[in-house]
This record gives sequence, structure tokens and C-alpha cells, in this order.
Amino acid sequence: MNQAFCKITKKKINRVINFGKMPIANGFLKKKDFKNEFFFNLSVSFSEKLSLLQLDDHPSPKKMFHTHYPFYTSSSNHMKMHFKQYSDWAKKKFLKKNKSKIVEIGSNDGTFLMNFNQNQFDVLGFEPSKNVSDLAKINGINSLNRFFNRKNLSECEGFIGKTDVIFGANVVCHIPNLAEFIKTADLLLNDNGKIIFEEPYLGSMYNKTSYDQIYDEHIFIFSITSIKKIFDLFDFELIDAIQQKTHGGSMRYVLQRKRSRVVNKKIRSMLENEKRKHLDSIEGALRFKKNCELSKEKLLEKIYKIKKQKKQICGYGATSKSTTILNYCDIGPNLIDCIFDTTPDKIGKFSPGKHIPIIDHKYFKRKFYDYSFLFAWNHRKEIEKKEKKYLKNGGKWITHL
Ligand code: SAH
Ligand code: TMP
Repeated sequence: MNQAFCKITKKKINRVINFGKMPIANGFLKKKDFKNEFFFNLSVSFSEKLSLLQLDDHPSPKKMFHTHYPFYTSSSNHMKMHFKQYSDWAKKKFLKKNKSKIVEIGSNDGTFLMNFNQNQFDVLGFEPSKNVSDLAKINGINSLNRFFNRKNLSECEGFIGKTDVIFGANVVCHIPNLAEFIKTADLLLNDNGKIIFEEPYLGSMYNKTSYDQIYDEHIFIFSITSIKKIFDLFDFELIDAIQQKTHGGSMRYVLQRKRSRVVNKKIRSMLENEKRKHLDSIEGALRFKKNCELSKEKLLEKIYKIKKQKKQICGYGATSKSTTILNYCDIGPNLIDCIFDTTPDKIGKFSPGKHIPIIDHKYFKRKFYDYSFLFAWNHRKEIEKKEKKYLKNGGKWITHL
């Protein structure tokens, strides 16, 4: 494999893990499209200068975010509740004045922005995937079907220099050109403006060895240290970081234009904590690599043992994350019969790369599987509650974690 370069500094960096040939994580497909399926090589590198874990290669954003993006925020009731709480917190802390202007990037079907009364707030969403952007419009949201970049600001001039807060969730790690993201935000924000976003957290991924957080859309897995170092380059300061339970462990970051050279006490102590855990250096990344290899070995051992006993396994939750597990561990329909899911755009199709059929979740209750691989492990509570009878009937949930 050729040399890796940091996406921000453009300097040479060290490659850490190669997960091998991967399809588009959300590229659920029909049988007729198997022969034209797109693959790329999924590998990650670590920049010591920015303490940043990044993908080396990825499909172009237009290949991932288009007219049929199959992920809908509203597919999880728990996430709907989370976004209500996120909005309540932000209103109290940052949006006290009448007619505050707020922007969300990656606003998807409008789940977060629907918490802001359109008479009290001036709301704008940037959402490049047309199907979900259209749904947000139906939900009454001012959703611009565009990527968030300077070129597209001509379509929302009223927000330039006047925006109070730019929000995001599970989207900043999807943006390959972070410099462009920050420069666009800088143009939109007013003097006191804030950027607030939450993303899967490197520390949680290391703790759980949840390597399935690594897939084409997640170009970066951030830590407090990497966010601080990246935004420092553009004269923004990190003023708060708040741990979240969502998506297996996330971090919410609050940033503003730099006012002080002094790092506040809370952030300083969080940075020291990350240093102790080796999140800032390649040492942590190399330990994670070893744990990924061990996790793969253990998972395959577990699955082959079950199959030897002639038991049947299905999957539950056709997540984008499952694409990394299935392809990295080479698990196909010979081992997992099918995957149950609630998403209409996935049902009736096949999983990317390994081509396991995706079945409507309502059939989960009709046929008994001895083991269910919970690919949507981050929604465990919600799903176990919904499927209480499965355990009662002797079914067992398994995961790679
Ligand atoms: N914020 C939602 C959706 C996350 S999925 C949630 O947390 O549930 C990521 C979303 O970001 C997708 O809807 C995708 O189309 C969108 N997206 C990807 N790149 C983007 C970019 N450069 N600008 C704005 N939105 C983007
Ligand atoms: P996510 O992990 O990226 O949020 O994706 C969750 C996937 O799991 C999505 O395809 C919807 C599916 N799902 C179910 O099938 N049943 C459920 O109860 C939940 C919460 C999600």
C-alpha cells in the first residue's frame, strides 16, 4: 500500500490498520446490481501532530450521499428523544434571544430541527441527500438540499454573519475537507457564534473495540485532543466537551472564535485524561489494532462453534456499521441467514459486499433463530424492550463486542 497523508496538514503519517476490501457501508443493493458493486480499500492512519485517526481512502461524498440515502434519524425513538434533549439544552444555554438564527448540517429528515418552533427561531438545514431532505421539507423544515460549503452559501445569504449556532450530529466526521467546513462556519457565524456538534468518540471506540465505527462515511474518529488541535489551526477555541451515551459513546463539542490563549480548566483536565489513555499518540492506535485482530478471531470462533451445533443465526439491525464487521470478518449468508430491519429502503435488498438478505423486522417474531447478531448494538435497550419475547423463548443476542 502506498504512503498515507494527513487530510488536514497533508504531511506523511503512519498507517495503523488495514480492514481490506470494503463496499459502500450504506450501499444496500438489489441482486441485479451485484456485478457492478463498488469497492475500495478501508484502512486507517494516525496523525501524531493532530492526534487524529483518519481513513486513507474513501468513496466521493456524492457516491455516499445522494437521492436514496437509506438512513433516517427518526428510525430510532431513543434518538428522537436524545435530539429533543439536545435542543432543550441548547435553547437554555445559547439561544435566549428571540428569532435566533440556527443552522444544522446533516439535518437528515429534520428530527433535530423540528424541536425548534419556526415562529421563535430562524432555522436552516443543509442536507445533501435528497430523499431525507425532501422528508424534512414535508416535516415543515427549511432544508437546503446541498452540501455545507462556501459555494452553497449564496442560497442562504440571510444567515451570513448572523448565525447564532451551527449544529451538527454524526456529520462532521463525514466531511473530508474539514478546512472548508470551518471556513464556511466562520462566514455564517455572528461575533458570538458557536459551533456545536457531537460525533462518535475515539475513547469509547477504543474501550469497546467497536471497530465497526470505522466505515466509508466516518472519515475521522475524533477525540477532544484532535478537535482542539484541528480548530486551533483556524483560530477557534474549544470551550466545552460533554460525553454522550449515543451511538455507543459520543462527545459533544462546543467551539467559538478564539478569545483567549488560555485553555479552560475543564478542557485541560479532559486533555490530560486523554493523554493518560494514549488517545493522543500512536500507542493507543496500535493497541486498538491488536484488539481488532483479537476481536475478529474471537467472533469467528464463536460463530463457527454455533454453526457446528447446527444452530441458526440471523442479524438484527442492518446498520452501516455491520458492513465493516461482515466484510472484515468475511461473514456471509452461509453463516448469517438474513438481517431484520425496520427501514423500508433496506428491506428486500441485500447487505453490501456479503449479500445477506434484509428482511422486514415484523417477520423476526415469526421464525425462531437460536442466535441473533445485534448489529444495532447501540440501540440495545430499545430493541431488547421491543423483542422481550425473544429471550423468553430461549433466543440469544450476540455481538462482536
Ligand atoms: N444528523 C443526523 C444524520 C446523521 S447521518 C443524525 O445524527 O441522525 C449524516 C447526514 O449528513 C446524512 O443525512 C448526510 O446526507 C449528511 N451529510 C453528509 N455530508 C454532508 C455535508 N458535507 N454537509 C451537510 N450534510 C452532510
Ligand atoms: P444506526 O446504528 O446507524 O443508528 O442504524 C440503525 C439501524 O437499525 C437502522 O437500519 C434501523 C435499524 N433498527 C431496527 O431495525 N430496529 C430498531 O428498533 C432500531 C432502533 C433500529
